[in-house]
Amino acid sequence: MKPHKPVLVNEVLEYLQAKSGGRFFDGTFGQGGHSKAILMANTANIVFATERDPGMIEYAQKLAEQFPGRFFFVISSFKDAFKHFDLHNCSGFLLDLGLNQKQLFSSSRGFSFYDDESLDCRINPNEKIPTGYDIVNLSPVKTLAKILREGGVGKELKYVLRAIIKFRPFKSAKALGDAISKTLPARLLYKHKHKYRHVVMQALRMAVNHEKEHLKEFLQRLKVISPDSARVAIISFHSVEDKLVTSTFRSWTKEGIGRLITKKAIRPSLDEVKDNPSSRSALLRVFEFYNEST
Ligand SMILES: C[S@@+](CC[C@H](N)C(=O)[O-])C[C@H]1O[C@@H](n2cnc3c(N)ncnc32)[C@H](O)[C@@H]1O
Repeated sequence: MKPHKPVLVNEVLEYLQAKSGGRFFDGTFGQGGHSKAILMANTANIVFATERDPGMIEYAQKLAEQFPGRFFFVISSFKDAFKHFDLHNCSGFLLDLGLNQKQLFSSSRGFSFYDDESLDCRINPNEKIPTGYDIVNLSPVKTLAKILREGGVGKELKYVLRAIIKFRPFKSAKALGDAISKTLPARLLYKHKHKYRHVVMQALRMAVNHEKEHLKEFLQRLKVISPDSARVAIISFHSVEDKLVTSTFRSWTKEGIGRLITKKAIRPSLDEVKDNPSSRSALLRVFEFYNEST
């Protein structure tokens, strides 16, 4: 399994002004690509990091050994970061939303429609929350429709619901994906063979893990501390998340607590997409809080 390639690394370093030295928060540590790049950008940099998946701890331990006294890590959702760390003096905040490659392709937690083993979909399998299995197999149709619609499932929704009702219970993500492919009309499948299954899995995962709610709570708590002159960089891979980030940064700008640094979302270059096709839908937006003490 190849290591996860962090996306838009140079752009993140530049927008967070990581070369100038400071304290940074990496809320979605993953395999640590961004944290490591920040730690290497300046020998004075300090990184506080959270990661929801306990399976990533080995990567954090490596960084803690490599950068003693400069890297602090906790298994937690980023929404609770403020309970674990004092982030008032941080100059840069990063969220790189979604999942990393290891989770997608070798976790056997049902994140990908290739996964024949499970339909769990929890980022942290220790959390006592309903799994993908529970939601897909036990929810009434109305609830399912709402979850899928909110997660970005569009014109294919009625076919997806039909497939779920007809063929459930499903034991694995692959079984669910196969049922959807069987039920979708050929004209939809012809152009985008995998797209619809992928969108359904993404919507399901976002619902299981309450991902939108965690992002909302993080942004609300960050606003409460509004750290002086800090920059907030958020990479989204899904329009639901990107809309939330955009509307939050817009309303913060209107309230006069800071300014939008990126007028348009920053996207990976063609070279980056060629080298790392998973980066193709990444959108980076950056906001800067004003310095209230001047
Ligand atoms: C796209 S990956 C980040 C990759 C990372 N930047 C790197 O360079 O390896 C997203 C990571 O965020 C984690 N994650 C998702 N939601 C989270 C949350 N609410 N709190 C903390 N981590 C979360 C996932 O488990 C995953 O490891």
